[in-house]
Amino acid sequence: MRTPILDAAALETLLAAAVAAPSIHNTQPWRFRVNPDDWSLEVHAAAERSLPRTDPQGRARHLSVGAAVLNLRLAAAHLGLRPRVRLLPKPGEPDLLAAVHLTGPPDGRNGPDGPGDQHSPEPDLYGAIARRHTSRMPFTGRPVPEPVVARMTAAARTEGARLYVPDFAGTRRLLRLTAAAEARNHASPLRAAESRGWIAAPGADAPYGIPFTALGPADATGRMPMRDFTGPHPALRPPALRFERHAQVALLWTTQDGPEDWLRAGQALQHVLLTATAHKVRTSPLHQAVEWPDLRAAMGGSRRRCFPQLLIRFGYGPDGHRTPRASARAAQST
Ligand SMILES: Cc1cc2nc3c(=O)[nH]c(=O)nc-3n(C[C@H](O)[C@H](O)[C@H](O)COP(=O)(O)O)c2cc1C
Repeated sequence: MRTPILDAAALETLLAAAVAAPSIHNTQPWRFRVNPDDWSLEVHAAAERSLPRTDPQGRARHLSVGAAVLNLRLAAAHLGLRPRVRLLPKPGEPDLLAAVHLTGPPDGRNGPDGPGDQHSPEPDLYGAIARRHTSRMPFTGRPVPEPVVARMTAAARTEGARLYVPDFAGTRRLLRLTAAAEARNHASPLRAAESRGWIAAPGADAPYGIPFTALGPADATGRMPMRDFTGPHPALRPPALRFERHAQVALLWTTQDGPEDWLRAGQALQHVLLTATAHKVRTSPLHQAVEWPDLRAAMGGSRRRCFPQLLIRFGYGPDGHRTPRASARAAQST
């Protein structure tokens, strides 16, 4: 057996970063295992926390796990280790989604597997992991400057995905499609029940799901199709507020649409969100439209080979509330 390069403290740092990743409905659909043969960290899907109605293919689950993998890469680099990621390393084991091989120390440069391009200094993405929260509150409407948007777009490309930032008319179109999806979700008793099942009751101290404190208000003007997790119990939702008149949104998309592409898209998602966070920009995903195949196809517009993965609203405004996580220890399997 090779000399271990992971002691307990290093493992805790790696897993604490991984579990801080965003995940659909805060399902945290991952499980981590150290493979002592080669000191790789295996990332498995936690199938028991899947969403059969909302995410029958497991696409959003792969996005969530991809986001955790990006955090693992950043934490490894922070520890002075060199991470090398293999996605879906064993074709016979579809629930083994990634293996992160750790060697170290690095030779002082960002390798091809390390986030960041060689030409412009990378903001502190590792530091942004703990500060990033989904913010479902209204934003101020102050536009995010073009250089920051360009960095977010470059972050997606670094991971092999694309970010489309539409103009005013394009934004309205994407929000209209999201509103149509939100209306369908609302009208579907099974979907509404599924998302309501991931709302944690006040004081429940649940490690999974979304606490009441993190639920956002509806838009009083009806323009912003924020997801309503409360289903047929609107009294549970905070009072409606006026959202920004001119929202800024970005569509994350890929040119292929298989499990490996979804894992790449998840890494791209987190790279984009952390880049935004590092520039004090708040973010909130709007996933509803990609949950309906016809609306998902319409999101791509006339672009060829465009597979929409997620819409991201971004801007300046209040921080999102912290959403709990299962501990790093609970996320580990032997
Ligand atoms: C693939 C994916 C889809 C998501 N979709 C939505 C959504 O439609 N609406 C929403 O309010 N939050 C959405 N989220 C955000 C999650 O609810 C959030 O990440 C989770 O509750 C953990 O909270 P945090 O992001 O503040 O850490 C999504 C996150 C991911 C990764």
